[in-house]
Amino acid sequence: MLKLKNVRKTFNKNSQDIQIALNDITLNVKKGDFVSIIGSNGAGKSSLFNAICGSFEIDEGSIILDNTNITFMPEHKRAKLIGRLFQDPLRGTAPEMSILENLYLACSSHDSWLHRITEKEKRFIKEKVAMLGMGLENRMNQAVGLLSGGQRQALTLAMAIIITPKILLLDEHTAALDPPTAEKIMNLTNKIVKENELTCLMITHNMNYAIDYGNRLLMMHEGQIILDLDENQKKETSASSIINEFKNIIASDRILTTLR
Ligand SMILES: Nc1ncnc2c1ncn2[C@@H]1O[C@H](COP(=O)(O)OP(=O)(O)OP(=O)(O)O)[C@@H](O)[C@H]1O
Ligand SMILES: [Mg+2]
Repeated sequence: MLKLKNVRKTFNKNSQDIQIALNDITLNVKKGDFVSIIGSNGAGKSSLFNAICGSFEIDEGSIILDNTNITFMPEHKRAKLIGRLFQDPLRGTAPEMSILENLYLACSSHDSWLHRITEKEKRFIKEKVAMLGMGLENRMNQAVGLLSGGQRQALTLAMAIIITPKILLLDEHTAALDPPTAEKIMNLTNKIVKENELTCLMITHNMNYAIDYGNRLLMMHEGQIILDLDENQKKETSASSIINEFKNIIASDRILTTLR
């Protein structure tokens, strides 16, 4: 479904502040995979998503999404194929616009404002909102900026998947929420990914989420993927063994390893 081949990205190339964000990343994600991605600050996790979304041009390598070479596709075109959530629940929404309007924009083309939202469209959107199980279907005309962080994040999730994306990218999407709300959004994410058979990559600093959810776990460090666990290896692992393995890898300079 998603194939990255020898992807490299360096910032501030000819200066002292050179930053190698992606250092020869090769990654093959299968359709329906739910991959959690961990790694310390500055490891290159968000840069990986930026490369996939076309937020910047990569220096080398290629990116194939569902058999289409998107390496040189502009960001706004890729946005139609890719759903993305950020840590900040307000990002990607228009806070002064209503729940209904935000979702309507997410599922329609740019000229959609030329006609009024039909009753059929309203029903479709309301059904999607009801599936979030947060009671937001009764507040369709309320401004998104008035919602709590958790409610907004549930809504951005609905917006990202209302037109089924080829891939869903979650960048620490529960990090700004209190623990019970984060748990709720994580369960909702898992339900939505499973029910819609989505292919999903999820960056998280929560080691338990990384282990408990999904069928593959990647660890990044200094722009490289240094650990790649499949479903069975992930089931057998624990947060402490991953942290120990991380320390071993750093100490021994090994890359791309699996836990035993
Ligand atoms: N636009 C940019 N300009 C310059 N350097 C950048 C840019 N984007 C990322 N970097 C650098 O690339 C490296 C990887 O950053 P990235 O944001 O991908 O890390 P991350 O793994 O997402 O970290 P975090 O967990 O803190 O979000 C860092 O050294 C960062 O400073
Ligand atoms: Mg990041």
